[in-house]
Amino acid sequence: MTAKAQAAGALNLAQGFPNYPPPPDLTELAIRAIRDGYNQYAPTSGLPELRRLVAEHVQRHYGHTADPETEITITAGATEALFIALSAVTFPDDEVVLLEPCYDCYAPTIQLAGGIPIPVPLDEQKNFCVDWEMVKRRINRKTKAIVLNTPHNPTGSVLTEADMNALIAILQNNDIIVVSDEVYEHIVFDGVRHESVLRYPELAARSMMIGSFGKTLHVTGWKTGYVVAPPTYTTELRKHHSQTVFASATPFQKAIVDYFALRPNHTEGLRTFFQAKRDLFAEAMKQTRFTPYPVSGSYFQLYSYAGISDEPDTDFCDRLVKECGVAAIPVSAFYRDKTDHKLLRFCFAKEDAHLLEAAEKLSKL
Ligand SMILES: Cc1ncc(COP(=O)(O)O)c(C=O)c1O
Repeated sequence: MTAKAQAAGALNLAQGFPNYPPPPDLTELAIRAIRDGYNQYAPTSGLPELRRLVAEHVQRHYGHTADPETEITITAGATEALFIALSAVTFPDDEVVLLEPCYDCYAPTIQLAGGIPIPVPLDEQKNFCVDWEMVKRRINRKTKAIVLNTPHNPTGSVLTEADMNALIAILQNNDIIVVSDEVYEHIVFDGVRHESVLRYPELAARSMMIGSFGKTLHVTGWKTGYVVAPPTYTTELRKHHSQTVFASATPFQKAIVDYFALRPNHTEGLRTFFQAKRDLFAEAMKQTRFTPYPVSGSYFQLYSYAGISDEPDTDFCDRLVKECGVAAIPVSAFYRDKTDHKLLRFCFAKEDAHLLEAAEKLSKL
């Protein structure tokens, strides 16, 4: 959709990345790191000072103690983190439960490792909450892992404490591993608490938690992420990391360390920053015929176009680019069987003027 948006000169609310600049201090620090000689390979598991920063972060936010030496790995973005986490634990014919719709890299990664993705639909009628009874029914002796994503892309839903307790109950009598994609961990709204697996000792002991500095610092192109996992999983996933990426980019790691020394409370500001964008876009979209879904976290907003058209969502998105000059993502792209609920995903990590202009264009439909 980004390519189509560029070709048509359309406003791109499709792909999940900001169109505003990152914090100026941060970019300066990256330049300084390069000038100061941080240009050679970092240790394969990441700069020790960045791993320590992640340890402090998970202690402060989730009360979880992680050893930077044996439990934290810096990766080339959350994408690599997900790849090595899933590759480390998935063997041929292992089943891995996915909650659909879901981010599109999970299933191919599982398949590359010879595993079988087992999709369980989120309940569209109930704002995409998890049907844990259904999850329970899909679990068997071959189930190796379950992938969580909270706050959730594409729906903007978040898992609650009740969800985490339901998961703990399901995992009581088996060895199922949790791969928890928490790249939007700091983007939660209306006073909602982010339920990291690391808050729950029973889950933390069997989970690989994945974060992304790209999302947290508005620098998706820096591709710097992390995995927090118990030592046995970390040993395994580091084998995949060292044979693929070996080490992620050194100057960005150094700049991130220096930035948090300068702005230790950066993450606290993200809620209000993105909530203001969510609300601005929602207000502006009232002039359109689209119907919103509630958003509790992430920087994505779902809209139904069922009241406007019954076209397949992919066709509708193509038409939106051509006729309105706005690009969105058809939600069927997040289902393996391409389930079409007549929903579009818009990314509101965009400049306010861009969001207002997009809503204005969409009101013509
Ligand atoms: C749910 C989810 N997981 C992982 C990623 C990838 O993160 P990164 O850019 O750090 O690789 C994204 C990016 O859009 C995402 O939305």
